[in-house]
Amino acid sequence: MQPKKKNNQWNPDSYSEYTDFVYKLASPLVDLLDPREGESILDAGCGEGSLAREIMRRGAQVIGVDQSPEMIRKAGEKGVEAYEASLTEPLPWREKFDAVFSNAVLHWIPQAGEAVRNIAASLKPGGRFVAEFGGAGNVAQIVAAIEEVFARHPEFGEPKIPWYFPTPQSYREILEAEGFRVEWIDLFPRPTPMEDVRYWLEIFANGIIGHLSPKQQEIFLCECRTILRESLYDPEKGWVIDYVRLRFKAWKR
Ligand code: BEZ
Repeated sequence: MQPKKKNNQWNPDSYSEYTDFVYKLASPLVDLLDPREGESILDAGCGEGSLAREIMRRGAQVIGVDQSPEMIRKAGEKGVEAYEASLTEPLPWREKFDAVFSNAVLHWIPQAGEAVRNIAASLKPGGRFVAEFGGAGNVAQIVAAIEEVFARHPEFGEPKIPWYFPTPQSYREILEAEGFRVEWIDLFPRPTPMEDVRYWLEIFANGIIGHLSPKQQEIFLCECRTILRESLYDPEKGWVIDYVRLRFKAWKR
C-alpha cells in the first residue's frame, strides 16, 4: 500500500520476479504476529497477497487492503479477500480486527499519524499491531546516489524522495499518541542480497524518475548503479541492498 497520492506504479509481475525476498524474509514477522485459529486479521498493504495467504494457512481469517489495484487483483487470484484502500483515509471497519499486520509498507506513508489512527480504529480494544518497514538509515546509500545523480543533472529537477524512514523513538511517540502501548520497537540492519541494484531502482524509484524521458531514465539508472557499485557491490556476495528495518509490536489500549 502507498499513500493516496500515487508515487510509484507497481507491476506485480516484475515486483514478484525481483523482490520475492520481501516476502521470504518476512516469516519472522508472521511468527511475531502469531496468528491464531479463527482470529480476524487485517493485512495493511497486502501487496500480491503472499503473506496474507501464509497468515490464512495458520488458521486466521484475513482481509487485505492495498492502494494498488494491480496488487489487489493478484491477491484476489490467490484467494485473498482484498480491497483497494488507502491507510491515510478512514478504513471501513470499526473495532473489527484482533490484529493488524503490515510488512514493508509504512515507509511509503509519511502521514504516519493518520495511518496509525486509521489502523487503531479498525482494531478491537486490546488488539495488537505488528509491523516492519524501513527505519532510520534505510537504503541510505541509494538515497545518496539518487541525490548525487540529480545534482549532476539540473535538467532532471529536484528529486522527490517519497520514503519515510523514522527512528524508533519518533514512531513510538506516534503509536502512543494514537492510543497504543508499545511492547517493544527495534531498529536493525538487514543487508539484503539482490540480483542487481538496477532492478531495485526500476521497481522502487520509478515514481522519482517518472517525469524523465526514457534516455534520461537510462542515464539515471546507469549513473546510480556506477556510484552504488562502490558501496553495495561485493565481488563474492554480489549486490547487497543496505536495508535497515524498524519492527514493533504494540497493543491498542
Ligand atoms: C524497503 O523495503 O525498505 C523499501 C522498499 C522500497 C523503497 C524504499 C524502501
